[in-house]
Amino acid sequence: MKTKVIKIQDENFNSLDQAVDLLAQGQLVAFPTETVYGLGADGLNPQAVEKIFLAKGRPQDNPLILHVSDFKMLEDLTRGDLTRARILADRFWPGPMTLVLKKSDLVPGIISGGLDTVAIRLPSNKIAQELIRRLGRPIAAPSANISGRPSPTDASTTLEDLDGKIPLLVDGGPTKVGLESTVIDLSVDQPLILRPGGITLEMLREVFPEADIDLGLLSPDQAPKSPGQKYKHYAPKAEAYMIRGSLLGKVNKLTDFIRENPDKKIGLMASSQLSDIFSNSNLEVEDLGPWEDLDQVASMIFKGLRDLDRKNVDIIIVEAFSEDGLGLAIMNRLKKSTANRYIGE
Ligand code: TXA
Ligand code: MG
Repeated sequence: MKTKVIKIQDENFNSLDQAVDLLAQGQLVAFPTETVYGLGADGLNPQAVEKIFLAKGRPQDNPLILHVSDFKMLEDLTRGDLTRARILADRFWPGPMTLVLKKSDLVPGIISGGLDTVAIRLPSNKIAQELIRRLGRPIAAPSANISGRPSPTDASTTLEDLDGKIPLLVDGGPTKVGLESTVIDLSVDQPLILRPGGITLEMLREVFPEADIDLGLLSPDQAPKSPGQKYKHYAPKAEAYMIRGSLLGKVNKLTDFIRENPDKKIGLMASSQLSDIFSNSNLEVEDLGPWEDLDQVASMIFKGLRDLDRKNVDIIIVEAFSEDGLGLAIMNRLKKSTANRYIGE
């Protein structure tokens, strides 16, 4: 299959017709959202949704998010009390937040992986909104990567994984947030973050002070509640490790590591503060932005891992960040891409 790419510029949505036609026919279309690129199918067509699992090599028990263009669509897909969902929707939608709610009979079993809940998101990206609105049905879309790889944040990375496997990719430029949405479980009494993302625990607690993080995300002895969190994820091709400590401590650990591995091509992905110190070294350096600018860091980590893989490094060293605010989402992804390994300790 040849993958066609259409580029959308300046909100000129005319050429989206072919994307909508393909989706209506049960075909796959990759498209941008504000978080990462998604691999979309008509969410109410089980045969179409099955193609997503095949193209990604995704385990069948990992449920998908349904993307909607308004709250009415959510009402049809769920049952039970929507008071809390409405409050969060008013505050954070459209945007990088996914709500897990009790599902209605309209939701195909293949979407929810056998659970009695469904995950729903209203994206803020205008192309995504337009596709859903014109299709008139929810679009099922996981991140548009091969399962296990870092999520794509631009069209060329999406093609790296899916070229030849899907008929169409809509190129809407690089994504803003760079990390997947926050998944919040509202199917239980206490709102729980199942996957940290752009909407932070601190922001959620301003609305629901009792909200918390799924303990399974923080403790290695407890299984996470979101099926997707148990899989190996975000792995670059190179061996990857984190590095932590004071700035001086990190410089010393890295210097030792370079000396001990003279035959290896090493990549460093770090804040500007640490990157600058190694800018004239033999390392391939990916500068994530200032240490204190977590929005920028978040938007750069998946891109950084992909860029270092393209440079064929043997080892990637990633700087660890603090877990406050958006740092929790950043560290959730970095711990997975490095299998929680650190150098120098
Ligand atoms: O930002 C995003 O959320 C992106 C863009 C494309 O919207 N999508 C995305 O989808 O990251 P995916 O499939 O890569 O991740 C969905 C996550 C998985 O961890 C999955 O296990 C979880 O949401 N999930 C889906 N349905 C669920 C449910 N009913 N209960 C608990 N977790 C669920
Ligand atoms: Mg994913």
